[in-house]
Amino acid sequence: MITVSAPGKCILFGEHAVVYGYPAIAIALNIRSYCIIEETNNENAAQFSIPDLGVDLNINLTKEMNSQFPVKYQQFYQGMNAMSEKYGITFEKVRFRLRSDLWIGAGLGSSASISIAFIQAINKWFSLNLTAEEINAYGFLMEKIVHGTPSGIDNTICSVGGAILFQKNSWNKLTLPKFPILVTYSGKSHQTESVIVTLGKNQDNLEKSFKKIKKIVEEGVHALNGRDFEQLGELCTKNQEILAKLGLSTPNIDQIITISKNNGAYGAKLTGAGAGGSVITLGKQKNLQKIQRLLQKKGYLSKICYMDFNGVKINSR
Ligand code: MEV
Repeated sequence: MITVSAPGKCILFGEHAVVYGYPAIAIALNIRSYCIIEETNNENAAQFSIPDLGVDLNINLTKEMNSQFPVKYQQFYQGMNAMSEKYGITFEKVRFRLRSDLWIGAGLGSSASISIAFIQAINKWFSLNLTAEEINAYGFLMEKIVHGTPSGIDNTICSVGGAILFQKNSWNKLTLPKFPILVTYSGKSHQTESVIVTLGKNQDNLEKSFKKIKKIVEEGVHALNGRDFEQLGELCTKNQEILAKLGLSTPNIDQIITISKNNGAYGAKLTGAGAGGSVITLGKQKNLQKIQRLLQKKGYLSKICYMDFNGVKINSR
């Protein structure tokens, strides 16, 4: 039995603009998704389960594998199929069990993190010796099934961990100290693909907004290098204003941000696709604890997170 895990993520600056080739900053969070791969004695089938979602599939390998995966889980079929075609592996006597501690559809990279854990589990089980780049590429293939035209930032940060400056499939690691990020779920999940499509259709001033976001990303790198967290907070506020003008905020997101700002946060913004999902709040630890209590009283789920320096990793074997 092998247990593999990959971190979730938040986008600090640059979501959506990154889909159009502009830069963005992502940070891996210390909330993980897990894939356990183990042997069964079923010669003709692979087992695939996500117990928390009530999914338990017995994939008969003598039949078309594709048709046995519901549309919602097609990315796993695509990942298995691509690796099977390339490396000649077959999945009899294999059981996958998947689980995530991330809120799903909340802008925290749950699909990317589970995909990357899944690919790495297959890699280790069959001793394929895939490079980090190859694991990321299979993760991207799976992300395209889930999100249509993603930028690739989510699968990359979930593979490599830490913090990255990402643009058009190339990325640099940013060296950061450990600092707290309050992550709050707005109470509404989103479909990244439809948010991207709607945004692309409805806006004529996208490029103008993205150029402003690009400047925020550049100033963000500077602030991170200088460990200037107050400045980072102000940049969050600026980035949020642009995202809100693009119609990506919601009354709940606005309320979380107002409570954060009224209680000593350096700044706060939505993270990920928006139109629901999560908010990140930056500030001193004790202020974040207070904000978290206030948000919990209003019924919001939230968690104080830290950057996870590790990307995908083997937990046990
Ligand atoms: C990434 O978490 C959110 C979006 O930028 C989509 C993407 O980059 O694939 C909206």
